Amino acid sequence: MSRTLTPLDQFITRADRLLRGITHTSTAPKAERPSPAHKQPEAPLKAHERKHAAGLMRVNHAGEVCAQALYRGQALTAKLPQVRNDMERAAAEEVDHLVWCQERLDELGSHASYLNPLWYGLSFTLGAGAGLVGDRVSLGFVAATEDQVCQHLESHMKKLPVGDRKSRAVVEQMLDDEARHADMALAAGGMRFPAPVKSLMTMVSKVMTETSYRL
Ligand SMILES: [Fe+2]
Ligand SMILES: [Fe+2]
Repeated sequence: MSRTLTPLDQFITRADRLLRGITHTSTAPKAERPSPAHKQPEAPLKAHERKHAAGLMRVNHAGEVCAQALYRGQALTAKLPQVRNDMERAAAEEVDHLVWCQERLDELGSHASYLNPLWYGLSFTLGAGAGLVGDRVSLGFVAATEDQVCQHLESHMKKLPVGDRKSRAVVEQMLDDEARHADMALAAGGMRFPAPVKSLMTMVSKVMTETSYRL
């Protein structure tokens, strides 16, 4: 017996496909922009360089899974009447990032983090919770998160093998986009989180990046 999918069914189906890295079905996430990696040549990487690049791209992919969950959680509860278009634009760019990272992981012969379902659930809850508190907090949370992401991406530009121009091109474009997302959230009235909150976020993100690099 067939039935119409409820919004919850659609959400679960979407999250499931996203988390399993399914990119070949009509409901899989699709990038609006081609990956910046497409224009770069594939370099002959040594085995340890390939493994390291895959670890870093797995961290970036996990970060993008979090971004999906954060924006979706927030969309569920926040009002954001003035900035909904900007937020949707940012969310669409996060889909691009997610797909680019997944593609690069595939090319490096590696896999997404096994812990992504956990990161997805936590980020969704945080996004929805921030949205419930109010738009100022919710937008502030986006800005603080994007700041963290920018710091990671900058460090990855230093850590990625110099010859891995494909991964570097992806990270470079993401860095550009995330910095703009942070500015947008602050310009829209997001609060600047105090230093202790940001320190706590740094600690949480350290756990997330160190485990996702390996698992
Ligand atoms: Fe992103
Ligand atoms: Fe972003």
